[in-house]
Amino acid sequence: MKVSPAAMKSMKLYDQIERIHNELHALGIDRESPLAPEDLTPFDQFHYHGTAAVDEAVAELGLDSYSRVLEVGSGIGGPARHVTERAGCHVTALELQPDLSETAEELTGRCGLAKNIDHVCGDILDGGMAGRDFDSLISFLVFLHIPDRMDLFGACLNALKPGGRIYIEDLTRNAEPSEAEWEDLRGKIMCPYLPTHEDYVSQLREAGFENIHAQDMSASWTAFTAERYQAFLVRRPLSVELHGEEVTGGLEEFYRIACNLFDRQVFGGIRVWGTKP
Ligand SMILES: C[S@@+](CC[C@H](N)C(=O)[O-])C[C@H]1O[C@@H](n2cnc3c(N)ncnc32)[C@H](O)[C@@H]1O
Repeated sequence: MKVSPAAMKSMKLYDQIERIHNELHALGIDRESPLAPEDLTPFDQFHYHGTAAVDEAVAELGLDSYSRVLEVGSGIGGPARHVTERAGCHVTALELQPDLSETAEELTGRCGLAKNIDHVCGDILDGGMAGRDFDSLISFLVFLHIPDRMDLFGACLNALKPGGRIYIEDLTRNAEPSEAEWEDLRGKIMCPYLPTHEDYVSQLREAGFENIHAQDMSASWTAFTAERYQAFLVRRPLSVELHGEEVTGGLEEFYRIACNLFDRQVFGGIRVWGTKP
């Protein structure tokens, strides 16, 4: 089952993505100005714990200037820019939604990182990355949108060289969602399937990965999402000024639902890495 880029817009985090330009404008940075990746990090990391989480991936994978990395679901390019800044590696940043991919490419160009990052608009399930022999594949908070895990992990395996490494952060299920929670999951988080921590590891093994290690991120991400929601409420008036009531209301709802699902221990989190034999 595939989700169309248009359907993804039901998740309000992805709505009106040009709002990043409003944030930059408020900092006195206009549309044409060059950027430093650090200017963007408060706004371009669509996962938990921002660049600190990306640093963990760089360290675990031992990325350096020789590494060729595929990022699946690269959003507006935050993790890809941070990885290349830290490690000097080349990143192919694959993103399903055209507006996010275009915005990512523009921001990367303004950061002077265009030679290090190829932004590609596409779906990992289409198999376009097969045979590319990447050294590593990274993905932060993306696979929750892709229920067919065997096709997904198969596509990831095919993109890597033998001995290549995969590093994922994603949601897991700690408790069975109620019917109302499933409605939010399907309709507002675009998450139609939630494996347990144990399922996640066995599915990666079944798909052909080995040497799999996993860390339970549930407690850490419960605290993070609660703080993120509270910080959003404090900043709400500024958000209305910058982006308007509709966009702000959508973001508020999204942050609240995520916070509540962690708080009720429906959502858990996993950081998992492994190797292609
Ligand atoms: C929560 S965002 C995370 C973005 C980025 N990883 C980050 O942490 O900033 C998930 C992204 O995955 C993308 N995505 C979802 N399904 C995809 C697929 N099948 N192929 C490529 N990208 C996908 C979405 O469009 C969205 O931009």
